[in-house]
Amino acid sequence: MKQETVAAPAATRDGFTSSFGVLAATLGSAVGLGNIWKFPYLTGTNGGAGFLVVYVLATLLVGLPVMIAEIMLGRKAKANAYTTMKTLSPRGQPWWLISVAGVLSAFLIMAFYSEVAAWVFAYVFKAAGSGLLTSDPKVTEGVFGQLIGDPMQSLMWQWLVLVLMGGILLLGVSKGIEAATKKLMPVLFILLVVVGVRSLMLPGAAQGLAFLFKPDFSKITGAVVLTAVGLAFFKLSIGMGTMMTYGSYFRDDQNIPLTAFRVMCADLFVSMLAGIAIFPAVFAFGFKPAAGPSLLFITIPAVFHNMPFGHVFMFAFFVLTAVASMGAMLSILEVPIALLNEHFKMKRATATWLSLALLALVGATCALSNSSMANVKLFGMTAFDLFDFATSNIMMPLGGIGLCLFVGWVWGKQRFEAELSNQGALQNQGLLRAIFTVLRWVSPVLILIVMLKGLNVF
Ligand code: PFF
Repeated sequence: MKQETVAAPAATRDGFTSSFGVLAATLGSAVGLGNIWKFPYLTGTNGGAGFLVVYVLATLLVGLPVMIAEIMLGRKAKANAYTTMKTLSPRGQPWWLISVAGVLSAFLIMAFYSEVAAWVFAYVFKAAGSGLLTSDPKVTEGVFGQLIGDPMQSLMWQWLVLVLMGGILLLGVSKGIEAATKKLMPVLFILLVVVGVRSLMLPGAAQGLAFLFKPDFSKITGAVVLTAVGLAFFKLSIGMGTMMTYGSYFRDDQNIPLTAFRVMCADLFVSMLAGIAIFPAVFAFGFKPAAGPSLLFITIPAVFHNMPFGHVFMFAFFVLTAVASMGAMLSILEVPIALLNEHFKMKRATATWLSLALLALVGATCALSNSSMANVKLFGMTAFDLFDFATSNIMMPLGGIGLCLFVGWVWGKQRFEAELSNQGALQNQGLLRAIFTVLRWVSPVLILIVMLKGLNVF
């Protein structure tokens, strides 16, 4: 008699519970300070619209395929990034090194990201008062300079952010992350639209729009292209295990390519909105587009100045930016925590607090980069700048090359197509073939050339 197949025991592993939840949480990882802080400042320092064009191309040709591959591997293995690469690789091949490098990237990103989040949290309180509501560049620059130049404040806000993250993470994946992001992401979209409209109404807005949308390709150098590729990695949280870890919480019937595409579009849209909120104001009030990491903090107060209910809107803006940063930080922290929890059998709570304690130490070097440790430099950069540069421009792209090579040359086309069509349930073979070809041939070569050129190797 044919033996009856026994249903597999219900998975005990925590995971995302609904299709919208998956989209919201993945978007919650992608959307964050990268859109609101990093995208505008890099667009400003790299010449505007030309950079934007290269960035969009990098997102399509490199970011999207790598994101799809990464989520796929995570879902296949249903494990943390290290275990995923270890179990999916042929015996004896060290592809797990990608994940180990990823954990290191996660720490370095968190070290400076938590400091930018710290500035945002501090600004929530500043926005509640009235000292910030001005369009005078000298005043807004002064307020920001005072915050980052004060070691106590910088450190205190950062550690507060880390403790807050610990609390949220201990609620678990589906309850904590899913619940928070699902509710607040739509509100952030709406507020950015309001801020954008306000900024467009400022006298001189046209110049800001031209800066953002009228490309001048004479400013594109190897270093600019590498920065754009690095931003694509940073934006989509790829090349260091985050999307792999999130992929492990995806359900088997989720359409991965479609989800990744939607996340990419929504993410680009939010960045565009942030750009439209900031650049018209930069030109209207005489700020410098190339101000660097301070751009968001010195410009935004001016947008709200003299606007009806400006005070309330500015407060809401920083609250929502803080929330967006939290969705991203939760996903970064998930990389080391899932690893310690599953591979080293550490309790989730212990894993969380251990990671955060380590981060409090490493992160302090970034918190103090504009004060006590401003003169401590490596390769001419402070810890903050170095971690920012090295993760986006070197470590994440290298992780990306590793993933492309693994999927394109080791994992192979058949398994790729089977996995991403949900074992034939989705009719997307043509599309998958195209994505596979890009992953095997185009993305890795492109990333490598851009890295070598951008780092002046040739
Ligand atoms: N994508 C996030 C942002 O743009 O703000 C940053 C980020 C999150 C990078 C998660 C890396 C990561 F693993």
